[in-house]
Order: sequence, then C-alpha cells, then structure tokens
Amino acid sequence: MIGFAVELPIFAAMEPFASILESWYAEHRRELPWRETRDPYRIWISEIILQQTRVAQGEAYYRRFIERFPDVEALAAAPDDEVMKYWQGLGYYSRARHLHAAARSLAGRGFPTDYEGVRALQGVGDYTAAAICSFAYDLPCAVVDGNVYRVLARYFGIDAPIDSSRGKNIFAAMAAEMLDRRHPALYNQAIMEFGALQCTHSAPACLLCPLSDGCQALATGRVGELPVKQHRTKTVSRYFHYLYIVSGSDAFIRRREADDIWRHLYELPLVEADHPLSEEELRHRIVEEWACPDEALASLRPLLRGVKHVLSHRILPTDFYRMEWPCRQEPPAGYQRVPQESLSDYAFPRLIDAFFEKNR
Ligand code: ADE
Repeated sequence: MIGFAVELPIFAAMEPFASILESWYAEHRRELPWRETRDPYRIWISEIILQQTRVAQGEAYYRRFIERFPDVEALAAAPDDEVMKYWQGLGYYSRARHLHAAARSLAGRGFPTDYEGVRALQGVGDYTAAAICSFAYDLPCAVVDGNVYRVLARYFGIDAPIDSSRGKNIFAAMAAEMLDRRHPALYNQAIMEFGALQCTHSAPACLLCPLSDGCQALATGRVGELPVKQHRTKTVSRYFHYLYIVSGSDAFIRRREADDIWRHLYELPLVEADHPLSEEELRHRIVEEWACPDEALASLRPLLRGVKHVLSHRILPTDFYRMEWPCRQEPPAGYQRVPQESLSDYAFPRLIDAFFEKNR
C-alpha cells in the first residue's frame, strides 16, 4: 500500500496534472445543457438526475424536468404525483421525493450560496454539494465521484479501497489538494469528463492518454486493478407476480406507500413471494389475501412470464397475469379503480410501464 503521506512529493506535479486535464477537456467536452448555466437550481437538478443515469438518458429527463419546473418555486408548488411522473423510469425514486421536499423548504428563501447551506439540503451529499458550489459559484470545493476515484487511484497508484473510510479520507484529501483553485468549476468538470470518456472503467484509452507519462497504474501494470473496492454488493431476489385486473373499462392500481422500493409510484395488484409461484400457488395466495370472486379466479391467465427486472441491489423476476373482475365487486383492499385509458396519467415503475407498452 502506498501511504498518503508518501504521495506528497507527487503533488508538486499538481500544476501539470490540472492543466493537462483542462486542455484535454477543452478538446473533448460534451455540450450538455447544464454546462450552459450557472443557475444552482438547474445544476442541482442535473446532478441528482445524473447520479442514477447515463448522460444520454439523463439529458432528455433534464430537459423535460426543467421545462415543466424551471425554478424552485415551480417545483415546490407541484403536486407529488406530477413530480413522480416526470421522474418515471429514472429509478431511485427517493431522490425525487428528497428533491421535492428540499424545493418546498427553499421556496421564497432563495437558493443557499455557501457549501454548508447547500450540503444541508435534503438528499444532497458531499459530492452534490461540491458539484453545485463549484459549477454555480466557482467555490473551491473538489468533487469526488466514481470518475474522480478512478482517475486519482490510477494516476497516483492508490490501492486504498474507495468504499472504506480510510480510502474515502485519502481520496477526499487528495482531490482537494489537486483542485485547481483558480478554476474550480472548469477543473471539476474536466476530471469528471476525463474519467467518463478517457480513463473509463473497462476500456481506458491509455495509448492516447495525455496523463500516461505520470500514471503510476500504467507504469506498474495495474490499470485494470484500480480503483479497489473491498465489498461487492450482494443482490437479493424478490419474486413479483403482477395482475392486470380488468373490470369493465377499469383497471386496479395502488400507490406504493411502504418504506421500500418505488415509494409513491403506482403499481398493479401484486403478489410477492420469496420464490417463483406456480399458477396454482398464485391462486392460493390470491384467495388468501383478497376477497376474490370465484369467477375472477377462474379467469386468471398468464400474459408474460420470467421478466427479469434488475435494480441496484435487487433482481425482481416477475410474472404478469390477467384477470377479469366483476364490475359490481369492490377492488381488492388497498387498490383503487381507474379507467384503463387514464393509466398513462400515473407514474409506474419502468417494469410495469414496459409491460403496458407490450401488452395492452
Ligand atoms: N455526471 C455527473 N455530473 C455530471 C456533469 N455535470 N456532467 C457530466 N456528467 C456528469
């Protein structure tokens, strides 16, 4: 392990490191809408969207979101369901809820202008606060995201795990030390873009790299090993069985309220299990859990089976069924009756939206 203190002499190379990155950025930067503004609100929105999605997809969401909610006041005044609708398909829905709550707390007060004020917003961590403060106000706050970890770990040959507190401290100190304090916004954008396009996770372009002369990982054949993580995230499976229940021209849905995935999104009637249910087992569960009329149960038909939906720490193998439900009968407890043609007004997780696209 190379100790942090031993790295200090290399910091003498700080000037070239920053200026090489900034020159590279001048030639390679992508034109992106949040790079054309210094409005902290817009930068905040872009950073929250980009925490969970690739730039290409995030850009479309950003444009739509900003068009509908151009400032803090517009977002604060919007109903929850509408905000979720604009977030639909992005995943990590708690981020939209935090964004909305933070906008409500800010309405009429103006956006905070210092690091502490920005960092105190709901859902804003060290990375996002540094991004907003540097991009909007040119404050000397170094961003540390996955791209920055990768570039620093490789260039300086640091093998402290990025998911250990020791590693986090080392990289945060190093990032702060390397920051170009005269041009924090430019430098932060440059190092992130460099990690995203040049010093990538699995296909770094080392042959064409302007930092290759000083890169410790390249010199010692460790580009593929760095950065190091100590824990692999464990994925668990949850088995979902969704029922598209048709009752005359209506369907049944509910808003998810539990402290779980997809909170505040809508979904179809759900039977969840810790293993995939056969049709017979599913019938048993439906009878146990819902006051289900016999004629409805007799109409149960599989529509789409074995869909594998992947979330960050979960796999959701899912089957979809269809069922006819008598019009006179109440929906299962907790579900509401809505006209099928108004289903597109509700925000559903992508799994269900994709099902609608294929099967309705
Ligand atoms: N990923 C996260 N923030 C970004 C930004 N400002 N520009 C490009 N990619 C990003």
